[in-house]
Amino acid sequence: MAKILVEKSGPLSGTIKINGAKNAVLPILAATLLASDKCVLEEIPNLRDVSVMGELLTALGAKVSPLKDGCMEVDPSGEILGEAPYELIQKMRASFFVMGPLLAKNGVARISMPGGCAIGARPIDLHLKGFSALGAEIELGHGFVEARAEKLVGTTIYLDFPSVGATENIMMAATMAEGTTIIENAAEEPEIIDLANFLNKLGANVKGAGTDTIKIVGVESLGSTVHAVIPDRIETGTYMIAAAMTRGNLMIENVVPSHLKPIIAKLRECGVEIEEGDDYLRVDGKNLTGSVDITTLPYPGFPTDLQAQFMSLLTVTEGTGIVSETVFENRFMHVSELNRMGANIKIEGHSAVVQGHGNLQGAQVKATDLRAGAALILAGLVADGVTEIGDIYHIDRGYVAIEEKLRGVGANIRRVEEE
Ligand code: UD1
Repeated sequence: MAKILVEKSGPLSGTIKINGAKNAVLPILAATLLASDKCVLEEIPNLRDVSVMGELLTALGAKVSPLKDGCMEVDPSGEILGEAPYELIQKMRASFFVMGPLLAKNGVARISMPGGCAIGARPIDLHLKGFSALGAEIELGHGFVEARAEKLVGTTIYLDFPSVGATENIMMAATMAEGTTIIENAAEEPEIIDLANFLNKLGANVKGAGTDTIKIVGVESLGSTVHAVIPDRIETGTYMIAAAMTRGNLMIENVVPSHLKPIIAKLRECGVEIEEGDDYLRVDGKNLTGSVDITTLPYPGFPTDLQAQFMSLLTVTEGTGIVSETVFENRFMHVSELNRMGANIKIEGHSAVVQGHGNLQGAQVKATDLRAGAALILAGLVADGVTEIGDIYHIDRGYVAIEEKLRGVGANIRRVEEE
């Protein structure tokens, strides 16, 4: 079992380069199943979730090249099976993204139900509501969900909540449906625009991605393409918070600054100076001051995937900050771990009240999920003594070489293998 050890580090300083976005590459990899020939994907981050998705595509019958120099090739031109194996689906909720493409391509998809997830119940009802509106028969049983349709027919689908995954899955299913599909109250995340761009390069007709209404005019078939995924805004935000917390000065490269508006605004409210370039952000935390309140919301609101990291920041700013989580019902598991490090955080319903004081102490803690793990690394950078983080496989799901990147800007962090 590997662990990450973090020691108190001075102000971080230097340059960090951001990798391609995990949450863009996973649905795009699933969408390659819709192609008729080999697709080449670039800027692919070397992450555990990406290799699981590669294994899943291989198990379904696609030819997947090993990731090399950020490039991955997927050839789905052979026979593609309609059933995804339990072992792989259980490893990663995002495996469910293959349901829409399989339904569109084969007219049938049988997938093991995604398991419960540490950050809430995370149902799939909105995905299924969309498939059913397109004309699929849905059957649930024996831990599987099966969708079947002679043909999919476009329609208008209103999402009760702008779910990222449901918007993407329905968008993929609708690419080859007969007629026009309109998704209302769609999620507006940048990763959805990236998926739409990929689908359009394959020959699909998707308009409105990035707004709350997406229109997909079905086409007969899709071709193949080369596509580079967008930079990871959550990785970017994590390093921005690292600069702020350590009162350091980081140049963060390969960034789309407009994807980070809420985090830029909130850090500036805390006294952090941020210079926005075309494809970089310079973050200077020397004047970090008071606490602020944040409320997580669907894009363009404050991202739930940066809530835990921002909470770490609020443990060292002056005063009280209130963190309200509105996207997931159970995303405060990092609170007890941060409190073990001497933080003063109280949970009141869907909010956490953080009393900042800056006296964190290193302790043995556990990464309870991916972003919670990142939050503990950030806390470890400013805590006295050594912070020993266990269950770091969560962190490897979503951060490329996090220790090397942080060590490169002066952090005292290392990975150790334990017997
Ligand atoms: C995606 C991201 C994840 C991020 C989340 C919210 C990927 C691979 N993951 O997850 O990192 O935290 O968006 O920005 O892109 N819901 C339902 N029914 C459904 C689907 C979702 O009730 O059918 C609820 C969920 O339980 C949750 C909320 O909607 O409370 C948001 O979930 P959703 O936007 O679907 O997140 P994911 O796509 O799973």
